[in-house]
Amino acid sequence: MVRRWLVTGCSSGLGRALVAAAAAAGDVVVATARRTGTLDGLVRTHPDRVLPLALDVRDPAQCEAAVAAATDRVGGLDVLVNNAGNGVFGTVEEVADDELRDQLETLVVGPWRLSRLVLPLMRAQGAGDILNISSLAGRMAFPGLAAYVTGKYALEGMTQALAAEAAPFGIRVSALEPGGYATRYGTSLTDAAGRSPLYAAFTDPMRGLLGAMAEGPTVGSAEEFARTVLRIVATPGPLPVRIPVGPGSHAYVEAAAEAAAAELTAARALLDGTPS
Ligand SMILES: NC(=O)c1ccc[n+]([C@@H]2O[C@H](COP(=O)([O-])OP(=O)(O)OC[C@H]3O[C@@H](n4cnc5c(N)ncnc54)[C@H](OP(=O)(O)O)[C@@H]3O)[C@@H](O)[C@H]2O)c1
Repeated sequence: MVRRWLVTGCSSGLGRALVAAAAAAGDVVVATARRTGTLDGLVRTHPDRVLPLALDVRDPAQCEAAVAAATDRVGGLDVLVNNAGNGVFGTVEEVADDELRDQLETLVVGPWRLSRLVLPLMRAQGAGDILNISSLAGRMAFPGLAAYVTGKYALEGMTQALAAEAAPFGIRVSALEPGGYATRYGTSLTDAAGRSPLYAAFTDPMRGLLGAMAEGPTVGSAEEFARTVLRIVATPGPLPVRIPVGPGSHAYVEAAAEAAAAELTAARALLDGTPS
């Protein structure tokens, strides 16, 4: 079958690779980016299958226009991929209210709004997939990336609620938790304006690690990620609500589960006097 996709954040990285892979597989993609010029190459390669559109997910009117374009110009929507994301680097004390709000607009409010807009369309079709590109930072927090972690935890909470709400209508909703993939993510982080030397002993090394993430020996390619997403979408039946994908992701989720179990044991010891 030819699937119709709407993907956010297609100027680079995972979103861009996903558009290329879906179009190469014969699907039709409403490919969106804040700067549409970044989509020119994709359109040149697949002029009949890639429909470029301006979309900053923080902008409600542009979100509405993108979903309307899917209805009017490609006749419906089979897959929404909430991929757009960026990161504000800083601890809780360093990140200001407006920086936090902006981070949550991109990571949570945008995906929430787009999901709300596509639900009537998918419900009428009796089918559809909503894939939220989360992070392993939505499983276990990294200190120093407090706003990003908060956004991804919120996205995972929304995904879990929506998965149960939408399932009766034949709509599948999952959060994908990428392990390390070589993209601009680590280098496009912005520093909170209030970064303080007080935290530098642990934030500086972490900033360095994230900046070099794409060059690490254990990172995957965006193309591998895209192939995995195509496989997930083509798999019939219910999907896991949270899907860790890519290098190191399964080990990370196991570590997060062990940390949760240890926390429960410690809480029991605290409250019941049970030995920990
Ligand atoms: N790479 C990894 O290993 C990894 C790991 C965990 C999670 N992720 C998640 O994967 C997703 C894609 O990231 P990536 O790794 O491909 O990094 P990337 O290359 O930096 O791509 C991020 C994309 O999101 C776009 N974007 C940012 N804010 C936006 C907004 N408000 N509205 C619309 N587009 C916006 C960027 O557009 P501009 O060019 O306009 O900035 C860019 O196209 C993100 O949600 C990220 O959190 C990636």
